[in-house]
Amino acid sequence: MKKILIIGAVGQIGSELTMALRNIYGGENVIASDINNIASEKLLKSGPFEIVDITDKNSIVSMIKKYNINIIIDLAAILSATGEKNPMLAWNVNINGLINVLEIAREYKIEQVLIPSSIAVFGPGTPIECAPQETVLHPTTMYGITKVAGELVADYYVKKYNLDVRGLRYPGIISNETLPGGGTTDYAVAIYYDAVKYGKYTCFVKEDTRLPMMYMPDCLKATIDLMQADFSSLKHHSDFNVGAMSFSVKELADSIRKYIPNFVIEYKPDFRQAIADSWPNAVDDTAAREEWGWNPSFDLDAMTQDMLKVIGEKHKQGLI
Ligand code: NAD
Ligand code: SER
Repeated sequence: MKKILIIGAVGQIGSELTMALRNIYGGENVIASDINNIASEKLLKSGPFEIVDITDKNSIVSMIKKYNINIIIDLAAILSATGEKNPMLAWNVNINGLINVLEIAREYKIEQVLIPSSIAVFGPGTPIECAPQETVLHPTTMYGITKVAGELVADYYVKKYNLDVRGLRYPGIISNETLPGGGTTDYAVAIYYDAVKYGKYTCFVKEDTRLPMMYMPDCLKATIDLMQADFSSLKHHSDFNVGAMSFSVKELADSIRKYIPNFVIEYKPDFRQAIADSWPNAVDDTAAREEWGWNPSFDLDAMTQDMLKVIGEKHKQGLI
């Protein structure tokens, strides 16, 4: 059985991807790691958990040796909004951390490395209505710059060292297990929590802000489908556009109002508005559909129903 090391496993995506992979490959074969251990009990108890700092190469190497790792998933990152407050931290974690992973993968003959990219690679010059797979990549945030550089360096390792490196440009991910970690698309999660808890939400971007988004079950499916794809059939490697849905904040609020009719939203845009405005409304994911069969399941209404059900249940139980 393959042994998978996830770095950044405690975050919004890692907390759920770890559990999904443990269900497939067995708890003991999926090693969760992060710089912090504030994780759910189920994550800490369903398999190994280790403290790893991705910027410290030795801390990763010791995991490779201890568990005979075959696959590394690098989810450790500083996201767009936090990255604008501390650009050098974003560079250090997102780029120096990634280089550590790639160099270790080369030295220790790791069979596969998965590195997520983001819609943050786009910026001025990218067609706003639907970002093509191949297009201008001029991001305005340090986060976006690290994601473009990360895609390029990952593809370099594929070409130069024949390393199996794969990655996908996630849109904003919406989920109800772990709160997002400091991104611009966080409003699309917070709105559901505040709708359930208070019946109102103050949004930090304007009502006509429209971005590509994806519900967590589709994010997990995309990630696992790409991991399991035949490497020789991939023409792209670290930069697959993946789309699922695209909506404005007004349309999101309207979809919540179908179930919470008195829900009220107000708008107080802050520095994240400029970041959101630099990203496209939607992405063209033809390459992902053609090369590894990408096909999302959730649209806005299906996601809203599920989010309100799960968050409503947590609220009733006093968990949030
Ligand atoms: P997150 O912020 O929720 O989690 C990141 C995790 O990395 C955190 O648990 C954090 O403790 C950990 N981390 C930070 N510094 C570290 C270090 N030095 N060593 C080890 N761990 C460290 O992020 P996420 O949303 O789960 O994102 C995972 C990946 O997906 C990232 O590469 C991110 O850029 C990408 N992505 C996420 C979204 C989204 O909407 N969530 C969208 C596009 C791309
Ligand atoms: N959700 C992420 C962010 O807003 C996109 O990569 O930073």
